[in-house]
Amino acid sequence: MDKINSTNALTARQVMLDAPVIPVIVLHEVAHAVPMARALLAGGIRILEVTLRTPQALACMEAIARDVPEAIVGAGTVRSAADAQAAAMAGARFAVSPGYTHAVGRACRDLGLPLLPGVATGSEIMMAQEAGLTELKFFPAMQAGGVAMLKAWSGPFGDVSFCPTGGVTLHNAPELLALPNVLCVGSSWLVPGDALAQGDWARITRLAQDTLQLKKL
Ligand code: 3PG
Repeated sequence: MDKINSTNALTARQVMLDAPVIPVIVLHEVAHAVPMARALLAGGIRILEVTLRTPQALACMEAIARDVPEAIVGAGTVRSAADAQAAAMAGARFAVSPGYTHAVGRACRDLGLPLLPGVATGSEIMMAQEAGLTELKFFPAMQAGGVAMLKAWSGPFGDVSFCPTGGVTLHNAPELLALPNVLCVGSSWLVPGDALAQGDWARITRLAQDTLQLKKL
């Protein structure tokens, strides 16, 4: 794999191949951002998806980008061109969206932000492919068909790679990661809300360490 450093432009593939799991993070307090990022780094996870679901999300991204340069922070829940622009301004180096629109695709391309767009149907995969995207998030993965759906897609969409996200756990991740068209999974389990609230950074480090045993087969 190409080395990722602070100056290289990232690709969506590099984002997916850095670790078996991309943590999906919801932060309500800016003060949690930096210790949380350091806790994940200590556990070996440096690709961090901070979702744009709270008023504090952009400030959290800024804090991580400024104070934890070894981490690679991206924005999740990107639903509009304006979201993509705000995320890039806050230091996001990649974007993840729950669905795909050409407006979001164009904005991310113009900003130089690699985009992992969410898809759940063949039509959505084809729309993303029309825009040249072949690394996609399958969302919501377990609710929308899980392993069986990914196996079905491997025929007509054999040139597409997926990051299943939604309902993924430490227990079902191995069967997803064993599929040839899955490069990584995404999940919120690495950063539980109660661990954040309690400042239990050691627990977040342990959860990150556990995921590194989930090597892509
Ligand atoms: C989300 O949108 O919150 C992600 O898909 C994570 O889902 P999860 O909480 O089921 O891991």
